[in-house]
Amino acid sequence: MNFKEEHKRCLALIGADGMLAGMVRRLAPDGYDLIPLDLPDFDLTVREKVLSTLGAVRPEVIVNCAAYTNVDGCESNEETATAVNGLGPGYLAEAAKAIGATLVHLSTDYVFDGTKSTPYTEEDAPNPRSAYGRSKLLGEQTIQQSSLEKFFIVRTSWLYGPGGKHFVETIVRLVKEREELKIIADQVGTPTYTADLARAIFSLLELDASPVAPHNLSGIYHFSDEGQCSWYEFSLEIATHLARKGEIAAVKRILPIATEEYPLPAKRPAYSVFSKEKYKRVSGGSVPDWRESLAKYFDQST
Ligand SMILES: NC(=O)c1ccc[n+]([C@@H]2O[C@H](COP(=O)([O-])OP(=O)(O)OC[C@H]3O[C@@H](n4cnc5c(N)ncnc54)[C@H](OP(=O)(O)O)[C@@H]3O)[C@@H](O)[C@H]2O)c1
Repeated sequence: MNFKEEHKRCLALIGADGMLAGMVRRLAPDGYDLIPLDLPDFDLTVREKVLSTLGAVRPEVIVNCAAYTNVDGCESNEETATAVNGLGPGYLAEAAKAIGATLVHLSTDYVFDGTKSTPYTEEDAPNPRSAYGRSKLLGEQTIQQSSLEKFFIVRTSWLYGPGGKHFVETIVRLVKEREELKIIADQVGTPTYTADLARAIFSLLELDASPVAPHNLSGIYHFSDEGQCSWYEFSLEIATHLARKGEIAAVKRILPIATEEYPLPAKRPAYSVFSKEKYKRVSGGSVPDWRESLAKYFDQST
């Protein structure tokens, strides 16, 4: 076996105990050696710790899945949101620059105000409506304004997968507990299975490592599953799966409501569907339909 066959790309996985990171660990191709980093040992908000840890590990790739993801919690804790989601990614960019690593950072559809009615492209101007969205936008900007050469900022939406707190699991619990649910029908976006996103991250990283790839692939990429739905339509599909599996006798009464009827601390975009054209063009990859991916999730496959 020669050196090339033995060489594995060292990947520092930040926020390694979170939902997306769990899937990144599960689907990491053979050629990667993962170093998991998370609280309490590794705090993204402590610049010296970030620089010294990554300086010692010297990964070729840093994938940042860490974030303060409680969207409503961010409204009353904007300082923490800013530190974790806004400034922390800048420290990672600084560390990546010092060791020549590629940084993959995750961002969100909540950087947009949702006033469009056609899919958001990477060129559309962000205008967040929430503290979470503002903090995530700051995270993008700290990376873009660092002098790091190789980075991918991957915006995603409505994420669900094993081991996380998310809409699918909330609906699974509520349809079993209640006879009637009222779900918001005037916010439209696209659910994204963590398995599809983890694969997309690795396909961008494969391109990054390829000697024949075009020179500068760095920048923002939109990735969600294909298609669109409201939270209401998403909940109907979830209930249908539960009925199919025999976990509920029949689909319960699920009623569509307007955003105003379910007030929450953080404002959400009314429309946040992504165009995935850039991702598809650059990676040559396809994007699965959200309904097919939800079926896989319920079948416990990836
Ligand atoms: N979930 C969604 O619907 C969604 C939608 C769009 C974009 N995204 C983005 O996708 C990425 C992954 O989301 P996710 O849902 O997988 O997140 P998650 O499950 O909430 O995991 C985040 C991880 O980061 C850790 N963390 C928090 N503060 C940290 C700090 N200061 N230092 C180091 N680690 C810290 C968390 O630890 P603790 O649990 O101990 O706090 C947790 O293990 C995030 O960038 C998120 O903004 C998510």
